[in-house]
Amino acid sequence: MDKIIIINGPNLNLLGVREPSIYGGNSFENYLETLKSSFPSMSFEYFQSNHEGALIDKLHEVGFAGYKGIVFNAGAFTHTSLAIADAVAAIQTPVVEVHISNVHARETFRQHSYMAVNCRGVISGFGLDSYRLAVLALTGN
Ligand code: DQA
Repeated sequence: MDKIIIINGPNLNLLGVREPSIYGGNSFENYLETLKSSFPSMSFEYFQSNHEGALIDKLHEVGFAGYKGIVFNAGAFTHTSLAIADAVAAIQTPVVEVHISNVHARETFRQHSYMAVNCRGVISGFGLDSYRLAVLALTGN
């Protein structure tokens, strides 16, 4: 079975309660069950951390381990972290950058991503469905 890992960065543990007008009212754990049922032939792992180093360690761990792809919402680290961008460049597994909100329709500081240049592509603005579209992009299913 092909493996996909979804990695969520800072504050995304609060999905469902955090600014629901922007990020929706569903928790990620709840959404993950829906996502899994959309791709019955794939196996999914999920990792969330509020810590930059922990996200980098996870990218290193899975980035050479035969995963089909990484769906990565780095949250605000997208716009600030060269270290995360370098980790994405360093690993072998393709990464799709994901955002729930349309970052290009928000503050200008959200309109730059350090990591995008090292990603297979970017999906932004489709709510939690951004994750499903990213899996689709990685698997072609
Ligand atoms: C986000 C957008 C980021 O700008 C923000 O810092 C987040 C969430 C999104 O999914 O829309 O934490 O990545």
